[in-house]
Amino acid sequence: MKAKTRVIHHRAAEPAPGNRPLVSPIFQTVKFELETLADVERAWSGESDAYHYSRAANPSVRELEMILAELQGQEACVAVSTGIAAVAATLIALLSQGDHVVICAETYGPTRGLLLKTMARFGITTTLVSMDDQAGIERALAAKPTRMLWFESPTNPVLKIADIAFMVDVAKRYGAWTVIDNTFAGLEAHAQFGIDLFVHSLTKSAAGHGDVMGGAVMGSHTLVDKIRAQVNMLGPTLDPHAAFLISRGLKTYHVRREVLCRNALAVARYLESDPRVTRVRYPGLKSHPHFALAAQQMPDSGSVVTIDLAGTAEQSRVFADSLQLFSTVASLASTESLIVPPQLMQPRELPADLRGCSDIGATTARLSIGLEDADDLIADLSAALTIAFGA
Ligand SMILES: Cc1ncc(COP(=O)(O)O)c(C=O)c1O
Repeated sequence: MKAKTRVIHHRAAEPAPGNRPLVSPIFQTVKFELETLADVERAWSGESDAYHYSRAANPSVRELEMILAELQGQEACVAVSTGIAAVAATLIALLSQGDHVVICAETYGPTRGLLLKTMARFGITTTLVSMDDQAGIERALAAKPTRMLWFESPTNPVLKIADIAFMVDVAKRYGAWTVIDNTFAGLEAHAQFGIDLFVHSLTKSAAGHGDVMGGAVMGSHTLVDKIRAQVNMLGPTLDPHAAFLISRGLKTYHVRREVLCRNALAVARYLESDPRVTRVRYPGLKSHPHFALAAQQMPDSGSVVTIDLAGTAEQSRVFADSLQLFSTVASLASTESLIVPPQLMQPRELPADLRGCSDIGATTARLSIGLEDADDLIADLSAALTIAFGA
């Protein structure tokens, strides 16, 4: 055999059984060989679990899915390329023409957009109701047969806490699935309520370092298999290298999350004591209207602190621009601290009667607290407030 053939058909240097690498290798391959055509036929038909093509399944992605399902306390998980792909795949897999969805108006904007603009084109109707309006949620579910109740807790960006026992109970009474976007609450939150599906952006605290995107849906085998089948047809597959990076991030998930939450609480307490800040919203503060509910529902209070400043929108712009350690970037739960000022958060696409429930004022800013030293973050916030407002 000539060299140019040999380099293409060289054999892998596989360790002997019992000689396992401590860190799982990245299965950076599109294709998997099988011994016979019959084996390939069984893999393609789904009769066997053998890997054959990485759009359908890949061991690096599968390993991540197994860890995520376990953390979320669910039977199964499908991982995809972004958080919004996880949202879209769930909607496309589980909804059909004529179906009705109830979604809380405080939910992540692009999720609302997918339902109200994209899914509407395929004959799916959506009712928006504020999370604060429990009677309205029940009325919307009772008004017509509803396939799904979709909500978040804490909400983005103002950190409202859903009464999850109510959500699950009311949805079950009207025969609807509950889907929670659990990105803000974290990978282990809310497993105790019997929620049908958990959607996560892995881009945030799961991966944790701001260098890779991913998404996941966890739930029963029955529902997750339906979503997996659609992912295989639509193609928002998670790349094996991205899966490896997220699995690596997960190894430090608990230690990172502990520091992120501790820093967030320290920052929230400082901001609450500063008269230039009129309101601090953080579920770990006693002043949060749902402090007790949050403590009962979540294992921690998260790493996002949302504030309203005294003064004008212009002063809040100066404040954001004056921060040295916070970048103006729309992500969260990363190594670095981030800020999203009010100018970037207005829910313009919400109907006028629901805009109030988003509770985003002219000086509302969302802070995502990072892994820096909390004293440095507090000093930076204080200095920026002094530039914007004076001492
Ligand atoms: C609550 C929530 N869900 C979903 C997403 C979408 O995630 P991704 O950016 O990974 O697509 C985001 C992104 O900010 C989010 O905040």
